[in-house]
Amino acid sequence: SSPALLPSKLLPWFDQHGRHDLPWQHPRTPYRVWLSEVMLQQTQVATVVPYFLRFVARFPDIGALAAADADTLMAHWAGLGYYARARNLQAAARRCVEQHEGQLPRDLDALVALPGIGRSTAAAILSQAWGDTHAILDGNVKRVLTRVYGIDGHPGQPAVEKQLWAIAGQQLAAVPAGRMTDWTQAQMDFGATLCSRAKPACALCPLQGQCIALRDGRVAELPTRKAS
Ligand code: ADE
Ligand code: SF4
Repeated sequence: SSPALLPSKLLPWFDQHGRHDLPWQHPRTPYRVWLSEVMLQQTQVATVVPYFLRFVARFPDIGALAAADADTLMAHWAGLGYYARARNLQAAARRCVEQHEGQLPRDLDALVALPGIGRSTAAAILSQAWGDTHAILDGNVKRVLTRVYGIDGHPGQPAVEKQLWAIAGQQLAAVPAGRMTDWTQAQMDFGATLCSRAKPACALCPLQGQCIALRDGRVAELPTRKAS
């Protein structure tokens, strides 16, 4: 009774309508993917792009970031806000130099142990940088899954979040070999554009035949708002 898995519909959608020209995709190195994911945690893609380009021009690798002086670092972050992100980024870069031979570790738990990297960000880094198989669950993915699967309850509630991680993990069995990077980006792009918070384009949606929220006329009420 539960809807079919999503990659068979969302990957073709991504091939046609997804974002394929983001600067961190060319070249797609672990450092550039990490930096982009941290910038994108609280900031939209269109805003991030010019900051990203300036930042990597001045700090092209983990060693340069680790060695940056605080004023230069903050000058390159100024305007993005949430300055703890920049401090965490440098602290993590210094840990990579000290403990991981100057590289980002290719391991979920080792990434989560670094400052500023949560489970979903770690998974997004591993899947995009190396094509490793990990589920992500950011705000966009939570919204898509609560709608398609008709999940009630605020997604920040631990029991709801646990259910969403399980559903996100189930999708991985349906991702074709060699397409993990695209699967991660497809979910982000789909949630940010077609299945957006305020104006989902259900009439154009490749999931319209299997979306519980659409079937039940509940798109506007999912995901459930936080109880006040
Ligand atoms: N938000 C977080 N990561 C993203 C990405 N890689 N592309 C678009 N939006 C994102
Ligand atoms: Fe989102 Fe609408 Fe598509 Fe359902 S049908 S996944 S609510 S865009």
